[in-house]
Amino acid sequence: MNEKTEEIIGRIKEKYKAIDQNPEVHLEGLVWAKPITYWDYILPDALLNLQVQRTTEPDEMVFVMYHQINELLFKMILWEINQVSDSEEISASLFTEKLRRISRYFDMLSSSFDIMGEGMAKEQYMNFRNTLTPASGFQSAQYRLIEFSSTELINLIDYRFRATIDRNTPYEHAFEHLYWQAAGKNHETGKKNTMLVFFEEKYKADFLLKMQKYNTTNLWTKFKQLPEDVKNDAELIKAMRHYDYTVNVKWVMAHYEAAGKYLGKSEATGGSDWRKYMHPKYQRRIFFPELWSKEELENWGNDV
Ligand code: HEM
Repeated sequence: MNEKTEEIIGRIKEKYKAIDQNPEVHLEGLVWAKPITYWDYILPDALLNLQVQRTTEPDEMVFVMYHQINELLFKMILWEINQVSDSEEISASLFTEKLRRISRYFDMLSSSFDIMGEGMAKEQYMNFRNTLTPASGFQSAQYRLIEFSSTELINLIDYRFRATIDRNTPYEHAFEHLYWQAAGKNHETGKKNTMLVFFEEKYKADFLLKMQKYNTTNLWTKFKQLPEDVKNDAELIKAMRHYDYTVNVKWVMAHYEAAGKYLGKSEATGGSDWRKYMHPKYQRRIFFPELWSKEELENWGNDV
């Protein structure tokens, strides 16, 4: 046995002894382990079996798969954000690296949205959408988690109620006043529509926990805790603004335009007053408001 092999075996012994395991049993296990293959590791067979149509329209497959691609990228984004959130003390270079990765993923989501806008025959879309009511992309839980983990809760509260909410407001109350509640509530009676009711039944309990978790660990709070010179670094500020604009204007507009192409004057499957709800100039969701000038804030979403 050469020196390198001995050193590795020493480390294996240490690792398993530390968890009260017999290292020899684990080494013996290696004798029987299957050699790894691409298909056992990446699991394409499982992944490629997750696309199930509800209709006979072939373009429905584009719709299903592109949503799934979005969910995979949302997961990659949350993976990076959580490394920032879960670190006790984050270095400036790690923060910047993670932020750039997160931005690149969102750039990809924005620039690929044509797959929806140009990707499906309108007649086919109008046929398969009828089988999807009352579901909506609105019900993507990961999208909401990206919001909770990117900014302070106050920046996600509906403008009309911001003055009534502060750091001492119970999470439950804040939840009822999140900006996206407007998409699912009758604005006169306050009654929630079926899309929102189903969404809350499935995810509300988890969302309340995550709101609490990210209250002190979201990207914006973490950024504010960086040393003064880092916070003022022009490149980092540029990267923060780029992320904010990509998520809250570029992606939103790519989505809005695709929706416009298919829906025209029709009602959305989720049932919102979507033209009003989705446009950034009305929604005004901004993750890092202090990084924008007064004028930029006033004109948010007007330049698109
Ligand atoms: C032709 C394609 C699409 C159309 C027509 C469309 C339409 C809509 C509409 C009208 C809404 C407003 C809520 C409602 O009443 O349903 C909405 C919300 C939403 N959709 Fe889509 N959508 C499309 C593709 C996508 C894709 C690919 C995703 C990616 C996961 C997505 C994610 C979302 C999200 C996250 C929301 C909530 C946005 C917010 O609250 O600001 N949508 N969509």
